[in-house]
Amino acid sequence: MLTEKTRQKSFPSLSEMIYLNTAAEGIPPVEVGQALAQYFQDHQFGMDGRELHQAQREAVKTLTAQIYGLTPDEIGLCSCSSEAYNLAAMALNLQPGDEVVISDLDFPAGATPWLQPTCPATVKVWQARGGGLRVEDLVPLLNSNTRLVQVSLVSFFNGFMIPLPAVVEAVRKHSPALLAVDVTQGLGRIPMNLNGVDLIVSSTHKWILASHGGGLVGVPAARSQDWTVPAGGWFNLQDPFGPNRFKQATSLPGAAGFSVGMPNYPAIYAIRAGLQYIQSVGVEAIAEATRPLVDACLEGLLKLPVELLTPNERDAIAGIIAFRHPAADEIYRYLHAENIHIMAHAGRLRVAIHGYNTMADVEKCLQKLEEALNNVGSS
Ligand SMILES: Cc1ncc(COP(=O)(O)O)c(C=O)c1O
Repeated sequence: MLTEKTRQKSFPSLSEMIYLNTAAEGIPPVEVGQALAQYFQDHQFGMDGRELHQAQREAVKTLTAQIYGLTPDEIGLCSCSSEAYNLAAMALNLQPGDEVVISDLDFPAGATPWLQPTCPATVKVWQARGGGLRVEDLVPLLNSNTRLVQVSLVSFFNGFMIPLPAVVEAVRKHSPALLAVDVTQGLGRIPMNLNGVDLIVSSTHKWILASHGGGLVGVPAARSQDWTVPAGGWFNLQDPFGPNRFKQATSLPGAAGFSVGMPNYPAIYAIRAGLQYIQSVGVEAIAEATRPLVDACLEGLLKLPVELLTPNERDAIAGIIAFRHPAADEIYRYLHAENIHIMAHAGRLRVAIHGYNTMADVEKCLQKLEEALNNVGSS
């Protein structure tokens, strides 16, 4: 794990702030900055640089495949999670009578393509109870018309982590649906076993400590026909410059179809470096080292006069804990003035703990939060 020295070396900005907002933006290690500089250098070769760019792309596919439990050919790279889901929606080509299940703990990227007026499917919402998504509440939403179940492995809203094997089992048993899982809020933070998932999607600017502009898509080969994206482009097509190019467009099946045009190479360099950095520290080591920090944060919050949005279920929490307070914005400003960075949004406050955080970060945050609560209580 990180020592004070390696932490300082890779994350110089963390010596000046307490950063507990990785669920919004990860702090990239200097290695990611070097990768971006490398992109610039390689791009100086013009067209000859493409070979170097391509090597980085292959490295990202290999690294992502290792975490997703897939092969590099089963990985597609696009520009954000939202793009991945819109392409997935094109591939599904839903018809009237089809049903989609989303959850009320989900981020809009995965939940909204099915809510557009042009989508003819019926959308059902798996509602959280006591802050968590309970598999027994999913079962009645499933039937022979369900085409897709979309969930986040870890909720951006309150950090609840779904019991994935039980979700896979329920979906298989009660419907013919495909299961799509957004792993953005867990990737690089917790070990994951994504067996049985039909579409895996992640953004790249959070826990893997890379840059904006990436979408990591996993499509198991057995599902590649289900996820053949009928989008225009060229990178995603078979023979885009061939003699029939003005007669028909034929998409590459599966993961490859999620990269429609020229790849976002700057992001790809950064993602390669971010994933390698995470791999060098070890996801298991990160999860283990942060466990006591998350436990301490949860225990501390339970003692404070806030409404906890995260269920008090330690095994269903990865790195995010959220709570509500009527004076959330004021509390946020108080903490920010103390150089403590958490998330505030619509009355909700969210703490996110990664491997570069320390117990001192959590203790100071709790202490200042208590001060802030006393202040707002007395004003
Ligand atoms: C679960 C989840 N998915 C996706 C995103 C981001 O989506 P996109 O990459 O389209 O910006 C976020 C947060 O920004 C998120 O929390």
